[in-house]
Amino acid sequence: MPRARSKKTFYLVANWKMNKTAREAHLYMEELLPSIEENSGVDVWFSVPFTTLAPASKILEGKRYSLGAQNMNDARPGSFTGEIAAEMIQDAGSSFVLIGHSERRRFFHETDELINRKMVRAFETQLIPILCVGETLEERDAERTESVIESQIRSAFCDIDINSIKKKAFMVAYEPVWAIGTGKSATPEIVEATHTIIQELLKKLMPRIGADISLLYGGSVSEKNAGELCTISNVNGFLIGTSSLQPGTFARIVHICDELQ
Ligand code: PGA
Repeated sequence: MPRARSKKTFYLVANWKMNKTAREAHLYMEELLPSIEENSGVDVWFSVPFTTLAPASKILEGKRYSLGAQNMNDARPGSFTGEIAAEMIQDAGSSFVLIGHSERRRFFHETDELINRKMVRAFETQLIPILCVGETLEERDAERTESVIESQIRSAFCDIDINSIKKKAFMVAYEPVWAIGTGKSATPEIVEATHTIIQELLKKLMPRIGADISLLYGGSVSEKNAGELCTISNVNGFLIGTSSLQPGTFARIVHICDELQ
């Protein structure tokens, strides 16, 4: 069934998390790319570990796929031992970067303030930030989803000159914490309702471009639920962890979404 809805690009962003060496990335791409070459209805992006950026960028050279990092430091290059600056991921081939993934918020204690500074840096360096937001199960049960997401988005843009932001300069990924890596995806009703909340807020915050911002859903997207979730009118793509790690599985998701465009 074709999707009767906006003609925005549909994005499939693979989030490899802390997986794959350069050699594994090579083998993965060797298997995946020939099988998705014909799928022109979706934009496939790869969010890979820092050490895999440069080799993956070589493999993807001249191809229509985008490459990005999963994190970066909020400071300009300088004396921050062990850290990676925006300029460095860009130099290694990144055009986008995940900001505020819930695993960064939870395990590495990233605060809304830090995430805001990273957003500032991403815009400064013209990397496309994919801002990840989402509530925990406790917050959902306490009916705090809307206020949590609103505060995450408002603080991410704190003191940023909204008028200077262009249409495709960023995306928002709704990733309910309870759905990430659990095999328990949010229902289509929850995804649609929460994306509506995000969309309304973006329209309020940035009237000129708010309606055009692409919204991704992430959290246990799989071959089983991709079809149903990708036909929701305000879902413009997926951020996929576990199901992006095997080229066969990821290719099948690409085909499913492509067919439904
Ligand atoms: P998952 O991860 O698909 O394994 O739930 C999604 C994410 O964390 O981006």
